[in-house]
Amino acid sequence: MNNNNLIWPELAARSLARVWHPCTQMARAARRPPLPLARGEGPWLFDTEGHRYFDAISSWWVNLFGHSDEGLRAAITAQLHTLPHAMLAGCTHEPVVRLAERLCARTGGALAHASFGSDGASAVEIALKQSFHAWRNLGLEGKRGFVALRGGYHGETLGALSVTDVAIFRDAYDPLLMRSHLVDAPDTRLGNEDQALATLAALLEREADRLAAVLVEPLVQGAAGMVMHSPRYLSELRRLCSAHGVHLIADEIAVGCGRTGRFFAWSHTEPAGPADWPDFLLLSKGITGGTLPLSVVLSTEAVFQAFWSDDPTRGFLHSHSYTGNPLACAAANAVLDRFDAGQEARCAEQARWLDEAFAPLARDPRVAHPRQRGTLLAFDVPGAPADFAERFHLAARTRELLIRPIGRTVYLMPPYLITPPIAAWLADSVTATLNDVV
Ligand SMILES: Cc1ncc(COP(=O)(O)O)c(C=O)c1O
Repeated sequence: MNNNNLIWPELAARSLARVWHPCTQMARAARRPPLPLARGEGPWLFDTEGHRYFDAISSWWVNLFGHSDEGLRAAITAQLHTLPHAMLAGCTHEPVVRLAERLCARTGGALAHASFGSDGASAVEIALKQSFHAWRNLGLEGKRGFVALRGGYHGETLGALSVTDVAIFRDAYDPLLMRSHLVDAPDTRLGNEDQALATLAALLEREADRLAAVLVEPLVQGAAGMVMHSPRYLSELRRLCSAHGVHLIADEIAVGCGRTGRFFAWSHTEPAGPADWPDFLLLSKGITGGTLPLSVVLSTEAVFQAFWSDDPTRGFLHSHSYTGNPLACAAANAVLDRFDAGQEARCAEQARWLDEAFAPLARDPRVAHPRQRGTLLAFDVPGAPADFAERFHLAARTRELLIRPIGRTVYLMPPYLITPPIAAWLADSVTATLNDVV
């Protein structure tokens, strides 16, 4: 079977002619035409020629239970027959209310209100605006700066890019962006958590009066190359932000919904009470199991109260046409049903199987810094050639595997469908791909 031939199937050619693909230099796309997909089933994506690919990266980290999952399909279909959509200003509906209640309850009420957007970036925009506006309503208009971690990624709208530190996405738009502060990111590979905290503490000491919030991707900076840190860093970060009166925004768009083994990555800090949670917690991607676009910004009672007034200009008037879309909320409620029914334990078991299966590869001399959080695993290949990511991706495709390394970092973030044989097959296939490329 040759999945790697460059004779474009008709759909790929038509796509290149008319569809402006994301994250793609279209002039170069001809060399790597898009995979023309026909359908998805479980962890597999099938192309129009009938070849299959194991979606080891959950289609940009959104898919949780496999493609075309029956439970999610049923939830969305039932909702489609009752109320597909209604505006959320001046109206409400059961799916959005239940979802807000259930997500807040999962924080023990520490986060008490839910705002809705469509994509991760729109959730980031909401959090940035709510943080700034809350301080403004409290008479602290000068608190308008944001602090982000080096290498961090929060999306690609202008506000989100202003707190994103990935040059390839950011640099062209730099003249349009807000000025944010960047601080060192903690990285288990460097053992620099205390130094990273000290740098941040110094900035907060100096600038707190001008700062609205610090943003963090809890436990794993995804787009930076699966850069990991400890729950202790997050607890210390919480302590520092509280001490200096600066909001803390936990962007769990990538790491939420069980990716790190717990529904919220933040839960790894073992919060003892409301004060141990962030001021904002953002979810998207997996929240609908990879079926429909939805994002959620959870915020504290204190933030909400800062907007409570008869004066409309003190309210949070932000909206999107599809805010709180019932279909997406029904899908999210079906995702929460799985977690209510023990999904975390299943994730833990699957994480163990992956850990065992990948143990030999972790000892391979070509591999550096093998690391894992829940079912998310990554390793670096420091000696790899500059075009490693592209070559690895194409080689993996010939082995029925969909993987897109970030630079010289290979990572897997598969749907929660891992069994011991699948874990073994994944480890064998990744090793074989590495042998093809390095
Ligand atoms: C941590 C994080 N925040 C925000 C985003 C942006 O989400 P979206 O692509 O849905 O706008 C992403 C996307 O990868 C992400 O990983």
